[in-house]
Amino acid sequence: MNILVTGGTGYIASHTAVKLLAAGHQLVLVDNLANSNIAVLDRIALLSGQKPHFYQADIGNYAALSAIFTAHQIDAVIHFAGLKAVGESAQKPLHYYRENVAGSLQLLEVMQEFAVKSLIFSSSATVYGDPRELPLTEQSPIQPQSVYGRTKWMVEQIIADHCSADPSFSAVCLRYFNPVGAHPSGLMGEDPNGIPNNLLPFISQVAIGRREQLSVFGNDYPTADGTGVRDYIHVQDLAEGHRLALKLTNNPGCHRFNLGTGSGVSVLEMVDAFRAVSGHPVPLIICPRRTGDVAACYADAAKAQHELGWQAQLNLTDMVADTWRWQHLNPQGYQTPPAKLKEKL
Ligand SMILES: NC(=O)c1ccc[n+]([C@@H]2O[C@H](COP(=O)([O-])OP(=O)(O)OC[C@H]3O[C@@H](n4cnc5c(N)ncnc54)[C@H](O)[C@@H]3O)[C@@H](O)[C@H]2O)c1
Repeated sequence: MNILVTGGTGYIASHTAVKLLAAGHQLVLVDNLANSNIAVLDRIALLSGQKPHFYQADIGNYAALSAIFTAHQIDAVIHFAGLKAVGESAQKPLHYYRENVAGSLQLLEVMQEFAVKSLIFSSSATVYGDPRELPLTEQSPIQPQSVYGRTKWMVEQIIADHCSADPSFSAVCLRYFNPVGAHPSGLMGEDPNGIPNNLLPFISQVAIGRREQLSVFGNDYPTADGTGVRDYIHVQDLAEGHRLALKLTNNPGCHRFNLGTGSGVSVLEMVDAFRAVSGHPVPLIICPRRTGDVAACYADAAKAQHELGWQAQLNLTDMVADTWRWQHLNPQGYQTPPAKLKEKL
């Protein structure tokens, strides 16, 4: 298929791109580089032997988007582009609604104009908010606790309404739990601009010496060791979830799936796993809880298993070992000079 990938140089999209290229799909990537590095394209090319088309453009830019749809015959869109920092979304709600909600609306309108009828959307477990019962199924109550989570739920609703109005449109909303890990080659991984919002990039930057210590937000939750419990899912498993979700492109309607492993790992368990794999200390301090954080959250991913044939294959050790390999080979992320990378390879 010819697939347009928005947010194409981002963390999850770049891993998915390598997987899709290997499966024989043709890709067009679009990204405004707000949270990614152009060097990702060379890594995709290195890993897949192909350099996909790339446009540096904003999905909110109608002229740029329609030029891309005019230049390429697109069969399906995988829509990763968006902002994802829960804390920042509370400080800049209008910015988040514009980028995530208005941006998605713009994309859907251009898809409609060009009669492109298949979409896979990056949703999030944050739509569930503070769970009343675990594990979370796709039927669990929706009660997002953050602006970010609300943007994801709003877009899901817009997509569902569009599917109702156009019975030939097919959409898959993938609700990711906590994506972590890196490509097993160590050539691609998560390289957020600025201070990482997610746990594993933070831990790995502490272990490599880029940051002094890890702040653990709360050790008085009702969990086994008092720290927050999350369902960490390897980015390679997520990438495979997208490949399999493409099966539904000829199946009209709005389909929703949880993508998680189904088991929870606490912050301290993750730190211990990282220390064991890297052999490096990870100094930490305990801080007060952060508003909006929940005690525990993990998925029931049975629906994805039954309907997509998808199940997470990689475990905590794989997640940590691959993250460490990426961090170790690329101490400055994608800014690491190619000569330094060659030395380490
Ligand atoms: N990583 C997570 O923890 C997580 C969890 C659940 C859902 N998601 C969602 O998955 C998607 C991908 O996440 P990621 O972790 O790869 O994040 P990421 O920041 O690495 O990737 C997002 C990409 O979108 C680009 N982008 C942002 N706004 C854009 C715009 N208006 N136009 C064009 N490009 C734009 C960024 O430059 C970035 O490359 C996001 O929609 C995110 O909300 C992520």
